[in-house]
Amino acid sequence: MSQMHLGLFVLGTGHHVAGWRMPGAEAGAENFPLIQRIARTAERGKFDFVFFADALNAAPGMHPSVLVRLEPLTLLAALAATTTHIGLAATCSTTYTEPYNLARYFASLDHISGGRAAWNVVTGAFAEAAHNFGRMAHPPHEERYAIAAEFVKVVRGLWDSWEDGAIVMDRAGGRFADASKLHVLGHDGPHFAVKGPLNMSRPPQGHPVLIQAGASDTGRDLAAAIAEIVFAVQQDQDSSRAFAEDIRARAARMGRDPRHVKIMPGVSPILGGSVAEARAKLDQLGEFLDPVAALRVLSERLGTDLTPYDLDGPVPELPESTIMRGHAAILTALARREKLTLRQLRNVAAGAMGHRLLLGTPEMVADDLETWFRAGAADGFNIMPPWFPGAFDDFVNEVVPILQKRGLFRQDYAGRTLRDHLGLPRPPHPASLTAT
Ligand SMILES: Cc1cc2nc3c(=O)[nH]c(=O)nc-3n(C[C@H](O)[C@H](O)[C@H](O)COP(=O)(O)O)c2cc1C
Repeated sequence: MSQMHLGLFVLGTGHHVAGWRMPGAEAGAENFPLIQRIARTAERGKFDFVFFADALNAAPGMHPSVLVRLEPLTLLAALAATTTHIGLAATCSTTYTEPYNLARYFASLDHISGGRAAWNVVTGAFAEAAHNFGRMAHPPHEERYAIAAEFVKVVRGLWDSWEDGAIVMDRAGGRFADASKLHVLGHDGPHFAVKGPLNMSRPPQGHPVLIQAGASDTGRDLAAAIAEIVFAVQQDQDSSRAFAEDIRARAARMGRDPRHVKIMPGVSPILGGSVAEARAKLDQLGEFLDPVAALRVLSERLGTDLTPYDLDGPVPELPESTIMRGHAAILTALARREKLTLRQLRNVAAGAMGHRLLLGTPEMVADDLETWFRAGAADGFNIMPPWFPGAFDDFVNEVVPILQKRGLFRQDYAGRTLRDHLGLPRPPHPASLTAT
């Protein structure tokens, strides 16, 4: 039987806006000892990967997990040294990074970690970042995706600068590298001109694993074209299955094997001895809520500043978001369907930033994940604990063993690289394809 994949989305203060205030919570997106413990727990739970999101701006009133944070590639390099198997995934923006730099960052992480790196390709969900890079404005949505597509092509080309085995280190013959296995990219496109080659040999995984979270039409096309993991935000099983089928169909149309695209919706589990007990924990978090930070999270997701609106009125009709269209569509649909007030929708978004909250006993949570998995609505889940470390410890100690017992999740790692864990092929070097 095929098994589900599990990723841990680490936000240092927890995904719930008020997670850091939960009794027993340890907070800190800059607290490396805590993050190290969290990563070790994830590895003990045999998770496929830990994932760190990123943005390139800060402002008072933001979700505390993103207000101050460590730079994720630096952080993952440190975690690579203190973990042995777990995949190490991070966001890096295609709008505010150069492909040559990024290719080096992730290839380095892949080398350092022995083949465990993954890159979450984002165009940047926060327009304010533009002002930190000498730009007047964040590029429009479609242009950002056009840049991203070309960016990824360049990065992959750079990772293929050297064929596998090109660094021969022939001591007797005095030959360090086989120059015949070096390929100069010579890319000259609308957005980037990158000659190459990369000053690094081919990464252990060939290419680090690519993740994408595109939800708009253009975003889905990019995900289908390049992503090996797709982060999803769907709240109910039917829409998640429809999303997964759509991405798989698009990938197949592009000539890819749809089994090599893993759809992983976000889930924020809150465990208790009963649903009521789990709900009491959520209510407790709700009492700690900072209303400004909570409304800002919703404003970011809907693409409009919501401060002028009546919190106890209906969710207003808003112009189409140019930033996070997927989140905006899902949250708006949820509000309409359940007739939520703006305050109620704010509290939902405060829970897991627009992802699904899953409340119940460990058995109930395992049942739910199994149902989604068996229905083809998910190949796995991106677990988003509302606070750390307790809520995540509970998941690893109480839910993972149930999934393992049911044969739905691995008992141990079978391989060493993230591609091994995910059952993804190692991309062959293009020269090896033309040679045969
Ligand atoms: C699980 C998950 C993690 C994400 N992480 C980031 C991130 O770290 N940085 C970022 O700018 N956007 C992040 N995003 C937002 C996406 O990049 C993208 O803006 C969003 O999914 C909407 O895409 P769309 O414009 O195609 O609708 C994330 C989305 C999801 C679902």
